[in-house]
Amino acid sequence: MIGLDDKQILASWQKNVSPWIDAIQYKQIESRVQVTDQAIIETVTSLSGNNVSGNGVSGKNVLDVGCGEGWLTRELTKTGLSVTGVDAVQGLVDKAKTLGEGDFRVLEYEQFSDKTIPQQYDIVVCNFSLIGNESVEHIFKVIPSILRDDGVLIIQTLNPHTGCGESAYVDGWREGSWDGFSQGFCDPAPWYFRTVESWMQLFINNGFVLADLKEPVNYRTGKPVSLILAGKLLSLPVVA
Ligand SMILES: C[S@@+](CC[C@H](N)C(=O)[O-])C[C@H]1O[C@@H](n2cnc3c(N)ncnc32)[C@H](O)[C@@H]1O
Repeated sequence: MIGLDDKQILASWQKNVSPWIDAIQYKQIESRVQVTDQAIIETVTSLSGNNVSGNGVSGKNVLDVGCGEGWLTRELTKTGLSVTGVDAVQGLVDKAKTLGEGDFRVLEYEQFSDKTIPQQYDIVVCNFSLIGNESVEHIFKVIPSILRDDGVLIIQTLNPHTGCGESAYVDGWREGSWDGFSQGFCDPAPWYFRTVESWMQLFINNGFVLADLKEPVNYRTGKPVSLILAGKLLSLPVVA
């Protein structure tokens, strides 16, 4: 769609800090409460060797990309993982710092590099935070340099089959909407729709092999609400 771009995404999030904090704090997003929060926690903890009760391997480190007000950082920290959250929006990061454990910093995806993120991570997780086009392509290019050799990149996103709506099933910019959210939200962020094939290509083209694919279902509606993809860096055998 003409006229929509990555910059408008951050402009929208800057304006919606307060209603977003309330939406998470007061559990206003049904699909998260019913399905997707637990799905991402279980995926991260199982791929890290931890489990949700906090038993298992601890001390692995996780980067929570586009952490918002930090709920996932806090939940993963409780399982024994060492988690850093990053987000472009100062108001969300400030709130995250007041709400509990975790290390938080302000950083735009466009600024991600091995210089701005010098540490290496066992897991990078992006929970409903990869919304744009060029910014997401950039993230995928940089993440291999900030992951350890056996590291994992995990994303959760809107399920492309149910999220496509009446539009054609092809990549492209879509108008945003706050339908179903509280009155406090304004100026919805546009988003870049990707097919399942396109998400897989992002992983493959940037050196990952698929380690997991899930389509968490809301059993009330019988429909998949999200898509979880996890990729491991492909380590090619050394040829003598
Ligand atoms: C739907 S919220 C998800 C927040 C959090 N991951 C969660 O599960 O609640 C999307 C987040 O992505 C962040 N974000 C979007 N584009 C970004 C960019 N270019 N750089 C940094 N953060 C960005 C927004 O600020 C927002 O906090």
